[in-house]
Amino acid sequence: MCALVDSWLVGLKRAPILHSARLLLRPVCVGDVVHIQSSIDDKRVCDNLSYVPHPYTVEMAETWTRNVNFGMANGSCCYWTICDQKTEEFIGSMGLSIHNEQDGCEMHYWVNADQWNKGYCTEAAKRTIVHAFEDIGMHRVFITHRENGLASKTVIKKCGFVLEGILRDSLKRFGKFENVATYSMLHDEYLAMKKNGLY
Ligand SMILES: CC(C)(COP(=O)(O)OP(=O)(O)OC[C@H]1O[C@@H](n2cnc3c(N)ncnc32)[C@H](O)[C@@H]1OP(=O)(O)O)[C@@H](O)C(=O)NCCC(=O)NCCS
Repeated sequence: MCALVDSWLVGLKRAPILHSARLLLRPVCVGDVVHIQSSIDDKRVCDNLSYVPHPYTVEMAETWTRNVNFGMANGSCCYWTICDQKTEEFIGSMGLSIHNEQDGCEMHYWVNADQWNKGYCTEAAKRTIVHAFEDIGMHRVFITHRENGLASKTVIKKCGFVLEGILRDSLKRFGKFENVATYSMLHDEYLAMKKNGLY
């Protein structure tokens, strides 16, 4: 696995390897850069993300990869590459921005457009939610989506997040203001869903 041979990452704290039924979530590595660049440069993905520019270059993907791995070192984030568990084929990205003082974190994700609607994001998000509550002791996980990001909205609902509200015109994307929906899940709510078999 390329993550294990990235010399510039040696000594840094790494994202733990997580498994789900079909997926492997592993640390982001240099070998992912080409996949990250081509996936995000795809307008189908880029148009639905909140902040990334278009075109999205290899240099941008390299910078992002370094930043998230150094973010691991100071505990401000935890990012994984989502892969097929059997073939290790690149599928997408999953991440948590961690707010240590609040025992809270924000979830971020995207999936290569050629792999959409196979349930991968929902599976990876649910595995990451389990990790956030059970392994790193979070009290609250939150997530936002652009109001017209309907696939993400579906994923969020399938994970059992609770809608908190709509942030009006809180995002300016390609020169246009957009509403953003914000959701959260508290530890107790997670435990109740676990009891009911959703987790
Ligand atoms: C959001 C995203 C990560 C979902 O990835 P995915 O692996 O396709 O997600 P899943 O297959 O687990 O679930 C997608 C669900 O959305 C549904 N969906 C797809 N397009 C939809 C639409 N236009 N309206 C409503 N639901 C939609 C799918 O049918 C599926 O639900 P189902 O399993 O009940 O049928 C992917 O679409 C993506 O990368 N989008 C661009 C980036 C992005 O939006 N990131 C999130 C920022 S908040």
